[in-house]
Amino acid sequence: MPIQKICCIGAGYVGGPTCSVIALKCPDIKVTVVDKSQERIDQWNSEKLPIYEPGLYDVVKQRRGENLFFSTDIDNAIKEADLIFISVNTPTKTFGNGKGRAADLKYVESAARMIAEVANSSKIVVEKSTVPVRAAESISNILTANTFNKPNVKFQILSNPEFLAEGTAINDLLYADRVLIGGEDSAEGHAAIEELCKVYERWLPRKNILTTNTWSSELSKLAANAFLAQRISSINSLSAVCETTGADVSEVARAVGWDSRIGPKFLQASIGFGGSCFKKDILNLVYICEGLNLPEVAAYWQQVIDMNDYQKSRFSAKVIESLFNTVTDKRITLLGFAFKKDTGDTRESPAIDVAKTLLDEGAKLHVYDPKVEHSQILEDLTHPQVTEEPEHVRKSLTIHSDPYEATAGTHAIVLCTEWDEFVSLDYQRIYEGMMKPAYVFDGRKILDHQKLQSIGFIVQTIGKRLSRNSPNRVWGSKAQI
Ligand code: NAD
Ligand code: UDX
Repeated sequence: MPIQKICCIGAGYVGGPTCSVIALKCPDIKVTVVDKSQERIDQWNSEKLPIYEPGLYDVVKQRRGENLFFSTDIDNAIKEADLIFISVNTPTKTFGNGKGRAADLKYVESAARMIAEVANSSKIVVEKSTVPVRAAESISNILTANTFNKPNVKFQILSNPEFLAEGTAINDLLYADRVLIGGEDSAEGHAAIEELCKVYERWLPRKNILTTNTWSSELSKLAANAFLAQRISSINSLSAVCETTGADVSEVARAVGWDSRIGPKFLQASIGFGGSCFKKDILNLVYICEGLNLPEVAAYWQQVIDMNDYQKSRFSAKVIESLFNTVTDKRITLLGFAFKKDTGDTRESPAIDVAKTLLDEGAKLHVYDPKVEHSQILEDLTHPQVTEEPEHVRKSLTIHSDPYEATAGTHAIVLCTEWDEFVSLDYQRIYEGMMKPAYVFDGRKILDHQKLQSIGFIVQTIGKRLSRNSPNRVWGSKAQI
């Protein structure tokens, strides 16, 4: 029997968009996205969705109430489903064994236990969450151990990691490069893989669907994120070399990426990568390697994270150094707080690191982001992992809804997110309202630096010496070149 009802446990950045697109492309399949958070489900059922993602609302509006449902009635959705996606969060553990490295699988485990408890018919259970290698085995063990009294209920566990990126999720889902499905090498396993293939084949060519064994699929997801992050750390490491030698990292990236074996994507030097996935998944990979007694492999991947931390702190340090080594009581404007453009997500945003350093140094911070909720910025910057003095942060922080207000009377602009609207701001107007000398630190390399300099700004960016800046303001330059 083809799949008729799908349940997705976890209505987050992955579960929501993925299932909305499945509902759009498979109008005859009933798709129910469930979550334990009533607030999240209420938002999915409202006009203001819990996440900002271009194109998402249009898809939801078309299918919601038709064959797409958002609900907290998890039991019922599990009971009626033929196929269940587990799309819950798998954050880095913050306590106990593997603290700060291992993936915390408590939400995956609780989802598996709920399925075991309420299922009264056989199900295909699909790991959509990013998990350590062999997590499917643990899910399988939980399911079988808890359904020994239901002999007619059988489970097939598939791994179907998600490769969407935030900000482009709908496009990524509609035109996926590849869908990866891993399953058990048995007749039942192959049949389950085939059922899931049939869902994706409704809108993607079969050649884009890759099938593997379960463990290859699980590891490939961690590997793909590690490779992508590695490219960013590689180009960021070279940005430091560029700043001291006079090479331009954009030119280097272009020249290197022109080689068809290397390719041009993911070579954009920046203040460092953020987002909920890269750091978490590489830490997970490092932890797995250590557990397998492969310390050299663990150290190799750890370096991708270390280089990212270095890039973030190098940027913040340079801001302070350029502002005459003190930012105490200086007004500084952060343009952008999300971890990348076209999302309101701030998880692991490099802007948090930059803001923390500046606040610790006594700066008065003014923050503007087009999509991040003000309450989220406050929550991030007063989080116990960021400050021991939340009151100090509250007093030193102003969050704005308008970029011109945010920059008025400020000493420096620090651009942390590459939002398109920042390119077309009226910088002449901004310059006139700022303290002098007026600084711009372009952490994303999106602004017209020559134009800014001709207005009068002192401009710093990543991986490039700007000729009209005074020599003592060259990033990281100790040598006289
Ligand atoms: P998220 O935090 O946005 O959403 C997870 C949701 O699961 C939350 O709403 C939470 O309330 C819910 N949840 C947790 N346990 C539950 C339970 N037992 N029952 C019902 N609901 C439960 O997370 P996300 O960003 O969507 O990520 C989900 C998974 O997908 C993670 O493993 C992540 O690594 C992976 N992933 C994320 C992205 C991304 O861009 N965010 C991309 C690819 C893969
Ligand atoms: C990433 C993966 O791309 C996606 O396949 C996976 O499913 C989830 O993790 P995401 O974190 O949403 O997606 O965004 P991504 O576009 O990968 O950007 C991650 C971070 O790297 C952002 O902070 C971005 O600004 C930064 N980045 C990206 C760079 O600094 N330079 C680049 O060239 C590309």
